[in-house]
Amino acid sequence: MIYKLKYGIPDVGSEAIINEKKVINLSPNEKGLYKVEGLFEDLQIIKNDESEELIVIRKVLEGKVFGFGDKVGPFNRWGKKYIFWNTDNYTHHPGADPLYKSFPFNIFINDNQKYGIFTDYPGYLEIDLGSEGKSEIVFKIRGSGFNQYVIVGNSVRDILSQYLYLTGKNIAFPKWAFGYQQSRWSYFSDKEVLEVAKKFREKKIPCDVIYLDIDYMDDYKIFTWNERNFSNYKNMLRELHNNGFKISAILDPGVKVEKGYKIFEEGKDKYFLKDIDGKDFEGAVWPGRVRFPDFRDRKVRKWWGQKVKQLREEGIDGFWNDMNELSIFATEKDIEEMKSIIKKMKLEDGINIAIKAGMIGEIGRRVKVENIIHLDGIKHYKIKNIYGFNMIRASYEGFEKKERKMIITRSAYSGVQRYGGVWTGDNHSWWEHIQLEISRIMSLGLVGVFYNGCDVGGFGGDVNAELLVRFMQFGSFIPMFRNHSAIGTRRQEPWCFGEKYEKIMKKTIEYRYMLLPYIYSEYMIGVFKNIPLVTPLFFHFEKDKMTFDVDDQFMLGRSVIVAPIYKPGQRSRLVYLPKRSLDLNKRVFLNKGWHEVEAPLEVIPHFLVDGRILPIQEPMNYVDERESDFTVIVSAYNNKAIGYYYEDDGKTENYKKGMYNLYKITYDKGKIEVLKIRENYIHMKKVWNFRIYTKEGLKEISLKI
Ligand code: GLC
Repeated sequence: MIYKLKYGIPDVGSEAIINEKKVINLSPNEKGLYKVEGLFEDLQIIKNDESEELIVIRKVLEGKVFGFGDKVGPFNRWGKKYIFWNTDNYTHHPGADPLYKSFPFNIFINDNQKYGIFTDYPGYLEIDLGSEGKSEIVFKIRGSGFNQYVIVGNSVRDILSQYLYLTGKNIAFPKWAFGYQQSRWSYFSDKEVLEVAKKFREKKIPCDVIYLDIDYMDDYKIFTWNERNFSNYKNMLRELHNNGFKISAILDPGVKVEKGYKIFEEGKDKYFLKDIDGKDFEGAVWPGRVRFPDFRDRKVRKWWGQKVKQLREEGIDGFWNDMNELSIFATEKDIEEMKSIIKKMKLEDGINIAIKAGMIGEIGRRVKVENIIHLDGIKHYKIKNIYGFNMIRASYEGFEKKERKMIITRSAYSGVQRYGGVWTGDNHSWWEHIQLEISRIMSLGLVGVFYNGCDVGGFGGDVNAELLVRFMQFGSFIPMFRNHSAIGTRRQEPWCFGEKYEKIMKKTIEYRYMLLPYIYSEYMIGVFKNIPLVTPLFFHFEKDKMTFDVDDQFMLGRSVIVAPIYKPGQRSRLVYLPKRSLDLNKRVFLNKGWHEVEAPLEVIPHFLVDGRILPIQEPMNYVDERESDFTVIVSAYNNKAIGYYYEDDGKTENYKKGMYNLYKITYDKGKIEVLKIRENYIHMKKVWNFRIYTKEGLKEISLKI
């Protein structure tokens, strides 16, 4: 059941909602307040016309709150105030807020209640979840009104599914997007890219995607090639493709101001955001002086989409949309202002030192977006949080309709799952950030973005061997497995720390490829049924109250529990199992409850829930290389188990027309049954080998299907 509550009159829509048919419009009482029986009541609505602030105070029962996407801080969001104001915030300290994205959707849970709230406002929004110690939630916007959708359901899964009814289903990524991906800011030349690629194949470390960061462009000019360092880029793309690699290129929104530069000339006075004086707005980003396309405008999206299409035709397979919060290092005005502040300050204030240490970023955060106007006259600050959303939407248009899209964005808003996935931005090579990413990745699933990932190994700072191994182990169990690092930091490709560590990381990546039949099946079934690939334990074990307190373990699909190691020197950890499970390292059963589990450096604890089935394969160099032997691991302590296996072409949208195979596999007292739910795609796996773990021991069966 979805209720719509209206506070004031929004002066502009957010574009998140695409389906409102089933929504029930609630009426407020004579004081304009809402009381949703049994759930909550509003105490007050405060409207302060001068500062354009609208505040709603709501009395709630205390409980746990999950969601908000990849914000930092505790996984249970209760007890803190959150700001939604998309910002390039590159040091994710535990209190860092706001960050790149806004997903103002959360799920509220206590013993008696379970409901979701989507506060749909694309400008400045604050949500205070009881930070004052009261049982109150305070919603505050800088604007005239907002809508709220209260979703009541009987499970978290049901609530999320209804939220996705409102905001749209996830697109399905191509199968190769689940292979290993290697990135670095930057691989500086076509030669360097090819060397990295060659190393993967020589060392037989599986890899599917290589990333191009900003240096593939000429002077950071979007939709150009750096003809000096990438003089042979066509050959590079051909060779990469011949060796089974896909290439993902970065897209930055800032278009360099340069006379004669095609993209600039085409967009000038036509497609760019405006200043209050009616001229194109200008700021500084990587290329220096730039202007920003107004992606909210359909014709601008079409124009941009055409350019993306050209790159796609040249051989770029995927795109990552960056700096779209908007991230602006400085504007003329801000620099002037800073200069006057600096002048007034004495050296003792340390400000000169701060400038030398990269104060430019600080200026960027002060940039006044109040002065930016969209092509239709809307003030940018009222819709700042959907700039990135509309950028990925424009880039999405560069793909063919029928092909699957590999496309991610750093900045986003609710509903972005209709156009692509996300990564969590500039994390660091810190141990704390493995733990942080566990909760961010789970929280992204809870706001309906199923294809998500983080910079594995850490973006900023220098990684070390042990940290990289642990980060890679964690990364191998999340939807997008991409190793990425910043300029000037220590290299972190899998071979950068000598033979011993290379061997462990090779095994880690190979293991990921072994799991692909399971990962891909669970992902695709999830796309159909609105179930995130990575979830907190409670998503699948909601009746077990303990699961709500477990924030450093997660589930990959419906059957595998993962417990990453995120502390240096740690060689064992406590693991909570909501049901008896098969330890996939030791191949022994552990009962429901808490366990101390060993985790030597080469091991990440992970478990197959009893009664479930795990289809796996022999690893290969890249996803589409070949079909390989197929094995089904069965966790059947009491000789009973069930599972699913899905396959399709992995690259077109034909799955929407039902062109796929879906098998239900059951094991019951010595008998295997493979039920064909649908077989509409050429059948791939011929021989199925079953390894069945029961309380009596291991049994092996081979079947021809
Ligand atoms: C931003 C991105 C990062 C990228 C860098 C250079 O910091 O978040 O991933 O490598 O810009 O383009």
